[in-house]
Parts: sequence; C-alpha cells; structure tokens
Amino acid sequence: MATSQSRAGRSFNPDRTQFAWLWRAVWLACLLPLLWLIAAGLRDALGANPIEYITRATGDWTLRMLMITLAVTPLRQLTGWHWLVRLRRTLGLYAFFYACLHLTTYVWLDQFFDIDGIVKDIVKRPFITIGFGAFVLLLPLAATSTNGMIRRLGGRLWQRLHRLVYAIGTLGVVHYWWLVKKDITEPVIYALVLAFLLGARVWYARRRQRSVQAMTLQEGIS
Ligand code: HEM
Repeated sequence: MATSQSRAGRSFNPDRTQFAWLWRAVWLACLLPLLWLIAAGLRDALGANPIEYITRATGDWTLRMLMITLAVTPLRQLTGWHWLVRLRRTLGLYAFFYACLHLTTYVWLDQFFDIDGIVKDIVKRPFITIGFGAFVLLLPLAATSTNGMIRRLGGRLWQRLHRLVYAIGTLGVVHYWWLVKKDITEPVIYALVLAFLLGARVWYARRRQRSVQAMTLQEGIS
C-alpha cells in the first residue's frame, strides 16, 4: 500500500512559473459562471423570471465554490499535492464573491432595498435566516484572508477561526434544502458531498493521531 510519503515522493509539484499559470487558470475558471450569466443576460436568455434565475445561479455557485474549497484539504491528503493549499484562499474568496452577488441580487433586484421587508424576511422565513447566517459567518473569514491578518492573528487562532467554513457549508446546504418545495435531489447531493468532505477530514485526523500515538509508543520502547 502506498504511504503518504511515497505518494508525496512521486506527486506533481509545480515550480513557480507553473504554479503562476495554474493560479491564473483557476482564477479564470472561477470567473466563468459570472461571465456565463452576463452573456445569458445580454442574449436575453435568463428565462421568464430573470431575477429568480440570477438568484438561483449565484446561490448555486456560492455553494459549489464552498464545496470546492472544502475539497482542497482531503484532495491534498489523498494526492500529496501540498501546493493545493495555496489555491484555497482564491477558491474561498470566490465563494464569498458569489455570496455577495447572491445577496446583492436579493437586496437590490428582489427587494429594491426595502430594509423593512428584508428584516421581516430574515426573521420570518427560516431559509433566509439560515442563508443570512451563513453570509454573516463568511464575513470574518473574508476579512482575515490576507497574509497580514494571518500574521496578526497567529496561525493557530486563524486556523480555528477558519473552521467556521464547516458551519457555513452546513448552513448553505440547509438553506437550499429548506427553500426547495418538491424535488430535494440537488440539496441531498450537496448534503452527501458535504458529509463526505467532512468525514474525510475526521478520518485523516484520526489516522494522523493514531500514527503519532504509534510513534510515541515506539520511542518509549526503544
Ligand atoms: C453562504 C451563503 C448562501 C448560500 C451558500 C446560498 C445558496 C443558495 C442556493 C444553493 C440556492 C438555490 C439555488 C437553486 O434553486 O438552484 C439559493 C437560493 C436563494 N437564496 Fe441563498 N445562499 C446563501 C445566502 C443567502 C442570503 C444571505 C440570502 C438573502 C438574505 C439568500 C436568499 C436566497 C433566495 C431568495 C433564494 C431563491 C429562493 C427561491 O427561488 O425560491 N441566500 N441560495
């Protein structure tokens, strides 16, 4: 069986130039859903209810970007591609970007900045309450995404704070599940993907803990 070390030994490790190109490709790929939406708008192809179309498209991409961001750590552990971590910030910020577009669509195009109506919606409609909660939790993560903030907070505290992303992913799935009236297939798929990604984290953490315990035991014997 391949150990993580042997896997790391034969894994792909881009040099600076390759990584810069990879980063640009990821950056552009993440922008494509927005360009697609703009192109659909210009072609008048947003369907009978363009506001609903935009709200749903931006909501979908917020959740997808969250899932992709959450997939980085398990994928890194599986492949030994440790450089993937350097793409995580871009992916996470894109999740925030799509969340901002989603919220802006709701506040501007759906509610026409009717603050009373928005507050009533947040209080009375549970799926909006949950979506809003997820957005509020995203704010400290976006605000602390710079190198300066990581230094100021210290790695440990920063890491702890960024565990909020697990709650955000969960709230995002619940938000979707609650708003769907009949066919729950898609929210169920997101829930399964999320459960798998969080489960993989727990599994790797347990495995790491076991190998540390085994090493401590071996050191004690020798
Ligand atoms: C991290 C935060 C959020 C995520 C991940 C998220 C995700 C989603 C998803 C996946 C959908 C369904 C798209 C579809 O039907 O294909 C959706 C719809 C929607 N979301 Fe969010 N959302 C978030 C925050 C918010 C916030 C802050 C609000 C408003 C305060 C909001 C309001 C709505 C509305 C009004 C809909 C459309 C409901 C309908 O068509 O009946 N969401 N969202």
